[in-house]
Amino acid sequence: MSKKICLTGVKPTEMPHLGNYIGAIKPAIEMSNNGEYDGYLFIADYHSLIGVHKGNDLRDYIYEVAAVWLACGLDPEKTTLYKQSDIPEILELNWILNCFSSKGILNRAHAYKAKVADNEEHGRDQDYGINAGLYNYPTLMAADILFIDSDIVPVGEDQIQHIEITRDIANAFNHHYGDILKLPEAKAREGALLPGLDGRKMSKSYHNHIPLFIPEKKLKKMINKITTDSTPPEAPKDPNESLIFDIYKFFATKEEQEALAKRYQEGIGWGHAKLELFDVVNAELAPMRERYDLYMSDKSLIDKILEDGAQKVREKASAKLKTIKQAIGVSN
Ligand code: TRP
Repeated sequence: MSKKICLTGVKPTEMPHLGNYIGAIKPAIEMSNNGEYDGYLFIADYHSLIGVHKGNDLRDYIYEVAAVWLACGLDPEKTTLYKQSDIPEILELNWILNCFSSKGILNRAHAYKAKVADNEEHGRDQDYGINAGLYNYPTLMAADILFIDSDIVPVGEDQIQHIEITRDIANAFNHHYGDILKLPEAKAREGALLPGLDGRKMSKSYHNHIPLFIPEKKLKKMINKITTDSTPPEAPKDPNESLIFDIYKFFATKEEQEALAKRYQEGIGWGHAKLELFDVVNAELAPMRERYDLYMSDKSLIDKILEDGAQKVREKASAKLKTIKQAIGVSN
């Protein structure tokens, strides 16, 4: 039996942070390397175009996101990596699917709805600053998913609605033409939530994040910013009440955790605890950072991987599109 197809997309934006790494990138790579699925990961550059209107920025983000995933261990031999904009069939399908997307459903898609609500709250015209790309975001996503008969789509919680919309669109299409589009299943990511420098969930919007690949010195400096209280160094401390320890757990082995817990009980200065944390975080990141720098210093390595991926995917895309175009009556 052939393996199920597992596909997901990532939008090129600024450098991901440690929380994205722990919660999304690392588990996704572990899953893609275990060989259970026929895996595809693509860079959703046309989705980013909705908000990024500087060519050089988008170009940088695309290379950065590819380099991050490759550096973190994505194996392009096991998981096909490609760029959405290299597959023109996706855009052909996007138009076709537009004609099966209910406007009422798009009105309720959360990203668009949130913008409208924000405009209303600020007394602006409800469509102020909204382009049609944002409005049609879910339909392009449906095209991303349906052109390759995806079975499973791992996504964050906020994207589940989009997979439901994809299923609606596929159903609407199939209703007219028979079972041509495969209905995908969303797989909610259960990645853990890494706390940020102030103890709230790590997030760019809280400004409490550590970018994934920064020079060692800077990483040390940022770890030093973790909020601590004024308990004196020699006082025994409870590891379960410590933000440093909470973060430490994500990077340390069981033995390392036990050893540090013991030092907490004996009394440890926060400065020393932060050094221990830096050591385990840096041990995990250093080899990846090196690979990241390698890819970024020779982008032709990335170009080659993306070209190979696109070539592989376009073969499947054109076969699927042919079936679809015959069904809708634009080709024989
Ligand atoms: N919208 C997704 C996000 O912001 C990215 C994405 C685009 C995607 N197309 C997709 C994810 C298709 C899964 C499948 O995270």
